[in-house]
Amino acid sequence: MHRTTHVRPPVSVAVSVALGTVGLLLSAPTLLVAQPHAGHEEMQRRHRSSSAYIAALDNPERDAYQKPDEVIEALQLQPGERIADIGAGSGYFSVRLAEAVGDTGQVWAVDINPDMVLHMNRRLRDAGITNVRTVLAAPDDPLLPDASVDRFFICNVWHHVEDQAGYLALMRRMLRPGGQVVMVDFQKRDLPVGPRVGMKIAKADLLAQMESNDFQLAEEHDFLPYQYFLVFTVQ
Ligand SMILES: C[S@@+](CC[C@H](N)C(=O)[O-])C[C@H]1O[C@@H](n2cnc3c(N)ncnc32)[C@H](O)[C@@H]1O
Repeated sequence: MHRTTHVRPPVSVAVSVALGTVGLLLSAPTLLVAQPHAGHEEMQRRHRSSSAYIAALDNPERDAYQKPDEVIEALQLQPGERIADIGAGSGYFSVRLAEAVGDTGQVWAVDINPDMVLHMNRRLRDAGITNVRTVLAAPDDPLLPDASVDRFFICNVWHHVEDQAGYLALMRRMLRPGGQVVMVDFQKRDLPVGPRVGMKIAKADLLAQMESNDFQLAEEHDFLPYQYFLVFTVQ
């Protein structure tokens, strides 16, 4: 039997960070400039504002370090693939994934925040994108069919997931044979963007967790300045 690890930030900080990853990215000036960390109340105030959250996720200045087009290119997606974008947020990656998999492909844009799903529904309709389905999911379940997903794409989300081992088990069930889990997340060190160090998951811890939950590292891309970019397959 495999050991199950659960990589989480300390409870004291995890509680306040339901939307924490971009809490420090909320205004354009904070996006690329080192800032003192905001206080708890300020963070909560920011988190309450989904429109500010969405604006931060879609801030064009984010592209400088997030390099979304290079990320999509590195994935070498094939037309017809079925991708689940877990914690899709504003749809920042979902719309790009949709273009890459084409009309014969399918993207599930999964989020637990109804404001994000509403925003994505409007965005997709207005852009005429028809190969993305939004999913208002549960925090512990992306609610996708079994054996339906070629790749899970998870960017800046994993530390939000409480029952990570349970979530990995569900993803294994939902993956098609040969499917992948792609994880992009902030390096666990002081950075000018992203959440506090204490909230982040170190790459080594994620690697150990994935291995102990029957995933193996298949690829690693190192062109992102602040984030690791790992691709896993089922062992
Ligand atoms: C920092 S944002 C990242 C958005 C997007 N992945 C991106 O890179 O632009 C985190 C998103 O994850 C969502 N989220 C948090 N916990 C989640 C969970 N358990 N399942 C699905 N989505 C979750 C939040 O509502 C939020 O929209």
